[in-house]
Amino acid sequence: MDIGILGCGTLGRAIAQGLRSHRSVERIAATTRSQPARAKDLEEVVPVDSNRELASISDVVIVCVKPSQVEAVAREISHDLRPGALVVSAAAAISTEALQQWTGGASPIVRAMPNMPARIGLGMTALAAGANADASHLELARDLFATLGRVAVVEERLMDAVTGISGCGPAYVYLIVEALAEAGVSLGLPRPVALELAAQTLLGSAAMVLQTGIHPAALKDEVTTPAGCTIDGLLALESGGLRSTLVRAVTAAATRSAQLG
Ligand SMILES: NC(=O)c1ccc[n+]([C@@H]2O[C@H](COP(=O)([O-])OP(=O)(O)OC[C@H]3O[C@@H](n4cnc5c(N)ncnc54)[C@H](OP(=O)(O)O)[C@@H]3O)[C@@H](O)[C@H]2O)c1
Repeated sequence: MDIGILGCGTLGRAIAQGLRSHRSVERIAATTRSQPARAKDLEEVVPVDSNRELASISDVVIVCVKPSQVEAVAREISHDLRPGALVVSAAAAISTEALQQWTGGASPIVRAMPNMPARIGLGMTALAAGANADASHLELARDLFATLGRVAVVEERLMDAVTGISGCGPAYVYLIVEALAEAGVSLGLPRPVALELAAQTLLGSAAMVLQTGIHPAALKDEVTTPAGCTIDGLLALESGGLRSTLVRAVTAAATRSAQLG
């Protein structure tokens, strides 16, 4: 299978790196706007000079340009897409309906919302099928994005919510890691140690939720000894409004995503 990455920037490169280990991917071609897409850490990606050529040689075209650039590139490649080629768009806020129209209406479209930990195989991608995409197209997209981490399939109307949680979520988590590490530094820990304690605690706790399937509230209760230290920390978080702040953060990002669309 030949993959074309249209827009090989931050996300496109992460996807290219993940797909290199996929058993059925024979070639990954890529374009950028300013220069051929070859980069020293992406030697297995074939640079292609034009988006039209990329479309003509790809079984799956993965669109990874900024949302404002999607219409132009979709219209540009609309006559060059192979019959039956799958178009996967990773652009935030661009609907499958719009993309289908811009690409001429014949190609199946799947919308994807991956996130940055895809770079190390720990990504979370949500997929939504467009009107022309059937179960086999969704399965193909799922199979490709599974090389980058976990994959969930949702209805397209929920993609703004997905953007608010897992699309933007890595930035929230970096802020939390940074804050925990700063607290460690203020209590006298060397910064690298504080950072490792904070990051590994988030990683391990998140893995517990995914691997055990136990509700996070039950896991929290399990580690909260009566009259112990953790309950005092939890009460400080509740009085600081952490829970409602996070809900507001996700809602604000989802609202912005809906506006961009
Ligand atoms: N970054 C994330 O964490 C993330 C997560 C989920 C979804 N997304 C979505 O992924 C998309 C890309 O985001 P990004 O962060 O990867 O952006 P980015 O780093 O700016 O990459 C965009 C790429 O598109 C290329 N490009 C622009 N116009 C083009 C054209 N006409 N033809 C070919 N290539 C063109 C750019 O080339 P030049 O470098 O030459 O300008 C660049 O390589 C966005 O729509 C975003 O919503 C990103």
